[in-house]
Amino acid sequence: MVKFFGVRELVQLLRTVGVEEFLSNLIRYIREDFLRWPKFEKSPRLASHSANGVIELMPTSDGELYSFKYVNGHPVNTQFRKLTVTAFGVLADVGSGYPLLLSEMTISTALRTAATSALAAQSLARRESRVMALIGLGAQAEFQALAFKAAMGIRKLRVFDVDPAAVAKFGINLSGSGIEVITTDSVASAVKGADIVTTATAAKRNAIILTNDMIAPGVHINAIGGDCPGKTELECGLLERGRIFVEYLPQSRVEGEIQQLSADSGITELWEVLAGKRSGRVSAADVTIFDSVGFAIEDFSLLRYLNDLTATMSLHQQIDLVPSLADPKDLFGLVRAAGLDLPRSGKVG
Ligand SMILES: NC(=O)c1ccc[n+]([C@@H]2O[C@H](COP(=O)([O-])OP(=O)(O)OC[C@H]3O[C@@H](n4cnc5c(N)ncnc54)[C@H](O)[C@@H]3O)[C@@H](O)[C@H]2O)c1
Repeated sequence: MVKFFGVRELVQLLRTVGVEEFLSNLIRYIREDFLRWPKFEKSPRLASHSANGVIELMPTSDGELYSFKYVNGHPVNTQFRKLTVTAFGVLADVGSGYPLLLSEMTISTALRTAATSALAAQSLARRESRVMALIGLGAQAEFQALAFKAAMGIRKLRVFDVDPAAVAKFGINLSGSGIEVITTDSVASAVKGADIVTTATAAKRNAIILTNDMIAPGVHINAIGGDCPGKTELECGLLERGRIFVEYLPQSRVEGEIQQLSADSGITELWEVLAGKRSGRVSAADVTIFDSVGFAIEDFSLLRYLNDLTATMSLHQQIDLVPSLADPKDLFGLVRAAGLDLPRSGKVG
């Protein structure tokens, strides 16, 4: 049997563990895996682009466990009451090739993206950061807010979205969370006075959400919405000014904000900072930019955490994704045991 977390099981798990506690633990799992970076099999994700969006496969392995995620990104979807991003993923045992766990990964992607953002900010943002601007209040937004509260002590958010309904939803969802939400009427007004700026907008184009002149010295930018060729959020001049950090450079060169820069521009992978191999923020006046597109190891960490949780909690289901056989060569026996009538003679059909 294979362990299964559907949307219902995952929501139940979050209720039991607590969202902030889950995010804090997940940050620890991602950090552990980023510190083992050279051990992982890594490749840019396989992307199938179409007019409305992209469908991607994201595999990785540490030699003992293997994972992959199916994920889409279709910014038009919300017009049709569908999510921009949906996903599911598998964790498997490398020794046998058997799947161990199948999970929904729509909520899980929001969790692991927020956890990775917060992990990056712990190394890159100024320690005394207390106010975050959050631009784009869609599906990812509350998870980002709670991860930054848990990891960075962010208790004041200055927010903006072009959709007033998204702003209202966000305020309701975070009421009672201990986070003060200040709504603003523009991006420029939202970022004023913020120590950290998160952009989580969705549009299939080179949007310019943040311009260089909006950003004060010392700000950390957590840019998660630009994650496909031709889909970016930051003005090029801002990239040229900032110190830029990415997940996996070969993938980010194609998909990240840095697709706007020349291939020889100096970029640091986040794991190198975590491992103490390269510096992150050097001075309080640095503008640091985490140019996040999402990488397979983050999904691996999430699935590894879920799998570990099943040792002490039984909120998942067991599903018969793979046959269980007394004689592994007698696969057809399953079909016969179900009472299937076989054609007795000659031709079929
Ligand atoms: N880096 C990663 O790992 C990662 C992971 C998940 C999602 N994403 C990306 O993050 C983005 C947000 O994802 P989501 O699931 O929240 O999408 P969503 O469609 O649910 O929300 C996007 C929000 O951005 C708002 N928006 C669009 N243009 C805007 C503008 N110019 N100014 C202000 N607000 C604007 C929309 O009104 C909407 O509320 C998407 O682009 C998605 O592809 C990245």
